[in-house]
Amino acid sequence: MTSNEATGSATGRLEVLGNHTDYNQGLVLAMGVGFTMEVRGKKRDDHRLLLHAQDLRQNFAGSLDDLSPRPQMAWANYILGVLQGLKDRGVSLTGLELEISSHLPMGAGLSSSAALTVATQRCLQKLWGFRMDPLEMAKVSQEAEHRYAGVKCGLLDPMAILHAKKDHLVLLDFRSMEVVAIPFPQEAVFVVASCGEKHALVDGEYNERRQSCEEAARLLSVASLREIGLQDLERKKGSLPDLVYRRALHVVGETDRVKRAAVCLKNKDLIGFGKLLDESQASSRLNFENSIPALDKLCEASQESPGHLGARLSGGGFGGSTLHLVEASREKEFLTAFLAKAKKELGHPIEHFVTRPA
Ligand code: GLA
Repeated sequence: MTSNEATGSATGRLEVLGNHTDYNQGLVLAMGVGFTMEVRGKKRDDHRLLLHAQDLRQNFAGSLDDLSPRPQMAWANYILGVLQGLKDRGVSLTGLELEISSHLPMGAGLSSSAALTVATQRCLQKLWGFRMDPLEMAKVSQEAEHRYAGVKCGLLDPMAILHAKKDHLVLLDFRSMEVVAIPFPQEAVFVVASCGEKHALVDGEYNERRQSCEEAARLLSVASLREIGLQDLERKKGSLPDLVYRRALHVVGETDRVKRAAVCLKNKDLIGFGKLLDESQASSRLNFENSIPALDKLCEASQESPGHLGARLSGGGFGGSTLHLVEASREKEFLTAFLAKAKKELGHPIEHFVTRPA
């Protein structure tokens, strides 16, 4: 059934463990957060495209006949990218008005851009009554990032958003594309803290990391870094330049940590699970070099606070947010100590929220 007006909504996502593994066909544990992106749409029949971003108080007026990227309009580009992706798949639309309202903190590493592209697709599907499976929807979102934002990201963000499940972490396998929901114990919560520096994925650091991973796979003669284990990588260390080896070590180590984390979750071993988050952060800092001092300081402040189980940067890195696994019964104690220490170290109050998988 179609209608002239419809709403699409999508949650933000958190990468819990498995950093930069998605485009290396690896494993990720992710979850949805409570905040959402809402897109309200209205059909038109004159091929016009009218977009309004409520929070930014910005408008875009164009036509479905010209979906070329607009460098000055980051948010509108994501929608143009979705429309182009649908057009490429033979979906024909007649014109539309979209109003976007975001309840997600921008640039905090919750992937507001994927939430926008998924919410837009959900809204358009309701308006025109077409269906697409989650993997194809994720690809439309990814293409928008690649072609309209210039970030060669993997499929993690839209896949996590499309499969997010309350009280569960989603285990995503980017080789088989299998998705498994794992119950998340009641005894822990996540604290998300913003380091106050906007992440700069678009600045090329992200794409450069991806290139190093591809170079590692090429030099190791494997199709992707998923095809090699930690021991094998260690044995072949000599065939890689040091920098490329360290990039590969991070990625291969992350998939290994996700495997171990899934076992910890099954056994309700939150201490073991937390240690893997701390290890992930150390590897980001030393091997992948996608942490920055502000993120390191947040993780260090966490480690010295009561109730800390583990902490790491979440998402691409180079800014954004850290994720802290905290004993639920000590949430208040943790926050008091952590926020005071972090404020002292960073020199400003820390924007944060407490969440469980949503
Ligand atoms: C960003 C990208 C994802 C993923 C993460 C790092 O969020 O959009 O595809 O690569 O970084 O794990």
